[in-house]
Amino acid sequence: MTSRAPAKIILCGEHAVVYGQPALAVPFGALTADVTASAGIPGSGLAIIAHDINQSIRLAPEERNGLAYAAQLILRELDKPIPDMILEVRSSIPIGGGLGSGAAVTAALMRELAAWFGHTFSAETLNSLVYQVETIYHGTPSGIDNTVIVYERPVYFVRGTAPITLSIQTALTLLVADSGLSGSTREAVADVHRQFDADPAHIQSMLTQIGKLVDMVRTGLEHGDMSVTDLGQLLNDNHAILRELGVSSPELEQLVSAARNAGALGAKLSGGGRGGNIIALVTSTTAEHVANALQRAGAAHIWQTELEPISD
Ligand code: PMV
Repeated sequence: MTSRAPAKIILCGEHAVVYGQPALAVPFGALTADVTASAGIPGSGLAIIAHDINQSIRLAPEERNGLAYAAQLILRELDKPIPDMILEVRSSIPIGGGLGSGAAVTAALMRELAAWFGHTFSAETLNSLVYQVETIYHGTPSGIDNTVIVYERPVYFVRGTAPITLSIQTALTLLVADSGLSGSTREAVADVHRQFDADPAHIQSMLTQIGKLVDMVRTGLEHGDMSVTDLGQLLNDNHAILRELGVSSPELEQLVSAARNAGALGAKLSGGGRGGNIIALVTSTTAEHVANALQRAGAAHIWQTELEPISD
C-alpha cells in the first residue's frame, strides 16, 4: 500500500492569510509525499522511517516528533493500539521551501495509517487532523497548507472558514524556482507578528492591501476576463508588499528580478519566504527563456506547471 499527497503553491495572500485575509493556493502534483506501510515483526511496534531526512522514529507515548504525533493522532482518532508495522516516508518536496512539505508528509502518513485499519477519512476530518500537526511545525498556521493539500483543489481560503473551491477560467503557465535555501516559516510569521505589534495600523493596511489583490486575482481567474499581463502585475504588487514586510531575501529578490527581466509577466515569493521558492507567471513562448534566466540566477530547481481551467 502507498498513500500520497501533493505539494502546494500559494499564488498570493501568504502571511496576510494568518491575519484573516484571503489567499489563493493550488495543489502542485509534480512533487509528492508518499508513505508506504508494511508489516513489522510481532511486538516491534510502529516504526516510521523518513528516508529523505535519514530519520527513524519508533512510536512512544512521549515522542513529540511531528511524524510520530501524526501517527498518534490517527491511532487515537480510530481508537486503535499501536500496530506492528513500518511506515516508510519518501518525499520529493523540498523541506522549508514554501511548498507544503510538512502538511503533505503528514497527510500521506495519516491516509496510509488509516488505510492499514481499513479506514478512509473524509477530507474535512483529515484536514483538521493534519492542521493539528501543522501547529507543531508552524506555531499558529492559518490552515491554508493542509487545506489545499488535503482537498487537492485550487482554493480561495480564509482562515477559520470552509475552503471555497476556486474555479479557473484562464489557463496559466507558472514556473516555480527553488532558491535552494530553506526558510523558516515559523520565524518569518513571528517577525511579521512583531512588526504588527509595533505598528498595527501600518501593518494592517499592508495586509488589507494584500487581501484586495487576492480578491482581484480571484475575480480575474474566475471570470477569465483579466489579461495575464494584469494578473502578473497583481503578483508583482503582492511581492512588493511581502518584501516591505521583510519576508523576502537577497536570493529570492535575485530570482524575482531575473524572471521579470527575462519576460515573466509577474513574479513573487511563494509561501513563508526568507528562502524557499518563487513563482513566475509566463507564457508558452517565454517559459524557456525565463527558466534559463532563473537557472543562471542560481535557482536550484525549476518546475513548470500549467493551471488548467477548472470549474466547480
Ligand atoms: O508553509 P509555507 O512556507 O508555504 O507558508 C505558509 C503560508 C504562511 O501564510 C506564511 C503561513 C500560514 O500559516 O498561512
